[in-house]
Parts: sequence; structure tokens; C-alpha cells
Amino acid sequence: MARVDPHSYFDDAQPRSTRWRLRLRADFISKVLSGEAEILFDRAGGAVDLDTKGLTIKSVSVPFELAPEEPILGRRLRVVLPAGASSVVISYETSPTAAGLQWLSPEQTEGKRRPFLFSQCQAIHARGVVPCQDSAAARITYEAELDVPDGLTAVMSAGPAGDATAEKGRRVFRFKMPQPIPSYLLALAVGELEGRDLSHRSRVWAEPATIEKAAWEFAGVESMIAKAEALFGPYDWDRYDMLVLPPSFPYGGMENPRMTFLTPTLLAGDRSLVDVVAHELAHSWTGNLVTNATAEHFWLNEGFTVWAERRILKALHGDEAAALGWAIGQRELEEALERFQDTPALTCLRTHLAGVDPDDAFSNVPYEKGARFVTALERAVGTAPFDEFVKAYMKRFRFQSITTETFCAFVEAKFPGLLDRVGAAAWLDKPGLPAGAPRFVSPRLEELTALADGWPAGRRPDPAALRSAPAAELVIFLQRLPRELSVADCAWLDEHLKLTQRGNYEILAQWLAIAATSGYAPAFPRLRELLSSVGRMKYVRPLYQALGKTPAGRELAREVFISAAPAYHALTRRAAEAAMAKYPA
Ligand code: BES
Ligand code: ZN
Repeated sequence: MARVDPHSYFDDAQPRSTRWRLRLRADFISKVLSGEAEILFDRAGGAVDLDTKGLTIKSVSVPFELAPEEPILGRRLRVVLPAGASSVVISYETSPTAAGLQWLSPEQTEGKRRPFLFSQCQAIHARGVVPCQDSAAARITYEAELDVPDGLTAVMSAGPAGDATAEKGRRVFRFKMPQPIPSYLLALAVGELEGRDLSHRSRVWAEPATIEKAAWEFAGVESMIAKAEALFGPYDWDRYDMLVLPPSFPYGGMENPRMTFLTPTLLAGDRSLVDVVAHELAHSWTGNLVTNATAEHFWLNEGFTVWAERRILKALHGDEAAALGWAIGQRELEEALERFQDTPALTCLRTHLAGVDPDDAFSNVPYEKGARFVTALERAVGTAPFDEFVKAYMKRFRFQSITTETFCAFVEAKFPGLLDRVGAAAWLDKPGLPAGAPRFVSPRLEELTALADGWPAGRRPDPAALRSAPAAELVIFLQRLPRELSVADCAWLDEHLKLTQRGNYEILAQWLAIAATSGYAPAFPRLRELLSSVGRMKYVRPLYQALGKTPAGRELAREVFISAAPAYHALTRRAAEAAMAKYPA
């Protein structure tokens, strides 16, 4: 018996699932998926421990035992395969409050006509959708049939496999995922959707009201795929499609294979936020091909992907653009290190998460510290040798799930002594950012930093030049201003840079954090509007936090929360609640 993942009952001494056959029906009235999961294993006979959370188990084709609910993990479903049996059929339904599913009413969509359903399984929410070995160590291929109301379209992290016959008023979509994936990459969405081809292997899906904007915003995706292939090797997933979700989607993007999920807040109208697409695309190599074995090695996934994302951006837009991306990440890293001051162990790259919910451990640290560690390795050996290394790494571990130890052994074999030379022990097992971490400089970055640094001394930038600056530059300037400004300073910024009326969410969120911290009342209606309509946690959490700084802000936050919370995704609601729990009484 060996459990290898603190967040799963998966036991690597037991038969391992290799394939799922799902038949699920979406009921938008009861907010329930119901049906069957057939799980095929690599061998016959013996007990297998599956993860479940909130599932109602109707029947199981073999003897089984459902253990009591554990916090974080959920309920262990032990199925006992008879000698000679290497599969099980489980009939079940999901909970209407499953954290991995959000059921939206028509009013919560762009078109307002039809309901919408989407999943978000990373890190450990797949077990609330399908009973499974919910650990990255157990990869599966899958086939699925999704039975949905007529007029709605279903998509999954898989290829389409035609329609099946359906009863009147329903439609059954079939899917097939031939490449083995970890359970957290299972994904589905159902809604009024329209698709637009962007290239021979890429299509964007969105609600009809958003599809034109989405097709324009992401039109450059094929050139990104080409750059990524040149850097990391062939794209192994056949198609790269994208789905633009309703605004309550809690993340910027999610790298569901063959169907990246994206927040509509990326639709800035100027293609300035497509770095998120570069990031999710990069996961096709770093993450989806080579996966972290458990959440304790999450940096292998996200740190490598941020590094890869910025290599793609550098190849597409040059050194300066990449340096600005690193600079934005630097401030985000500093904020995360500050937020985790009281739990410094969570700022190590290699973490110890027994008893810790991965959603609570989540921060920018594995992203930005991880990416800097990868850069430290890259700089120590030189870009060309490192690029060769990355290709070899992808090839060696493709379709596998690995730990930090496995990664380090591979580095050591390729570049003996390198880990010591870059001080890997401090990167991996010490909190905070090591002294001597890579720095990223560019002339424009220095100008912007100087502009912001001059603010407290009363120096003001030339408003005309900054007003029309590219989004990333404005974000960098705003990130580097003091969080709390006088009302007069806020008014100056707002008037000259037209900040409250910005449609670019990265700029808007930076500005609103300052406005909220400073108690700048003219921005409050916009804060209310954003927090009532957007569920992306990257914006929601810091804004609830910033509103906590003033009595008027706290009042606004509490009021908005009461009216907006029912429409929030479960994760967004939890993040907002956690921020408000820290308000002074
Ligand atoms: N895989 C993540 C999202 C995620 C992480 C979901 C952990 C659940 C648990 C995705 O690739 C991601 O990192 N998205 C970022 C975008 C990015 C450019 C850093 C986001 O959502 O903001
Ligand atoms: Zn990511």
C-alpha cells in the first residue's frame, strides 16, 4: 500500500485506471450531472481506492465501500474488483454545490437567453465530477457522451466524436480524448456557443454575443503555436481550440488540453492580454505533457510555464516586451511573498501540503519564483544549451508525472554540478527569493520605474505620453505607485489617465486597488460594477482586500458581497470571504 499524493486516496500498489467511459446528462433545473462512469484498469482483481466529493453513488457494478467525508479529500470510494474483472461501472450524480462545476442562469451569461455550465477541475475538483483516482500520477484517456438540452453546445477537453441519438428536446454530444491526461485536465462546458476557425488547427468558441471580439483578439494564435513548436518541439495534442467563458470564470485561463478555457476579461480589444493564451498554450508542453506528480511540485508546472510563456513572447515581440512581462511578475511575486508572510513554508518551491487545501496554498510564488529558478538554470548554462536541455526534458518525460527530485536528477545528469552552482537548495527548500535571483532590465522599464518612484516627491509624468502608453507600461507604472494616495493624487491620475473608465482589466484592477486603498469615492461605482460582474480571482481577491483599508470601503465590500455572492463561483466566494474575514471588526 502506498499513497503517493497527500491530496488523493490513489494508491500506486493497486490497479491503475487507464481509461474512462462517461455518460452524463446535464440537468439545469436541479444543477446536477447524472449518469455512469465506466473505469477501466491496467489489471484485474483487488481493491481500488477512488476519490469522490459530494457525489451521490447510486450503484456500483462490483462490491464497494464508501468511507466517511474527510475535509479536503472528500469520501474514499473503495471498489473491489473480482478476480478476472478489470473494470467497474459506477452510477452516480454530482452535487448542485460541487466546487468543480458552476451552473449559470441565463442572466449570468452574455446572451441572457440560455443557461451555461462549466467545470474547473484543477487542482482536486475532478472528484466532484467523476469518481476517480484524482492524482496526476494516474493518467487516463477518455470517451464521453454529454446529454444536454437542445440548442446548447457541449465542448470538452477532447476531440468531438459526432452525435449520438437523443430523446426529444435533447442532444447528445460525443467526445474522445486519445492522449492520456491527468484527471485535473478533464473539462466540460455547455452553453449557447458559436465557433470560429482561426487556423487549420485552432478554433475559438464563445457565446454568439462575444464570438466576433474573441476571434479578433486571438487571431494570432497560430503564430504562437508555431513559435512554441520551434522552442519546445512538436505540438502533441492535434488541435488547440479555446473557449471564452462567461465572466464568472475564476481564473484567467485553464490549460484544458485541446480546449483552453479563458476569461472574457482578456477581450481588451487591442490584443494586449494575449500573454495568457501564450501561457495556457505553453502548458501543452510544460504541465500537460510533463506534469507535476502532486501539488507539492506545482512549481514544475507553473514556474516552467511562465518561463515558457515569456520565451514565446520574446520570440514574438522581442526583449523589451518580455522584460515588461517579467517586471509585472516581479511585483506580483513581491505581493505574494508579503501575503504569505505568516506561512513562509508556502513560499518554498517544493512544498509540504498534507492537510493543506491546494486552493489555499495557491499563489504567484510557484509561478514567478519558479520561472526565475528556471531562468537561473538557463543563464548559468547559456540559452542554446538550455533550449536543447528543455527539448530533451520534454522528450524524456512526455505523458509522465514527475517530482522535483526527478527533475533535479535529470538536470544533474545533463549538467553535473549545475544545481549547486545556482544554489538550487535555496530555491527549492528555503522561503522567499534567493539573493542573486535573475533580474530583468530594459530601458523602458527603467523609465517607468523612475516615473513611479518620483511620485512621492511630487514629480508627475507627462500625462499625454502615459495616457496612450501600451497596457503593460501603464500596469507597471501603476504597480509601482504607493498603494495609498491622497484624494487629490487619485483625482489627478483619474483625470489625466482616464483610469476609472478603462476597459482593460489589468489596468483597471491596478487602478481600483489604489483607489480602494485610498478611499477614493469616485471610483466606488466602478468597483461595485467590477465586483458584481467579474469572478476572476486575480482581481476579486485583491480588491476585497484593498476595500478593507477604509470604513467606507468595508461597507461597500460587504454590501456588494451580499448581492454578488450568489453568482460567484465557489472559489471566488471563498477568496472574497477570506479577504473580508481579515477586516478589522
Ligand atoms: N493552471 C492555471 C490555473 C489554475 C491553477 C487553476 C491552479 C486551478 C489551480 C493556469 O494555467 C494559470 O496559471 N492561469 C493564470 C494565467 C497566467 C498568465 C499566469 C491565471 O488564471 O491568471
Ligand atoms: Zn498556468
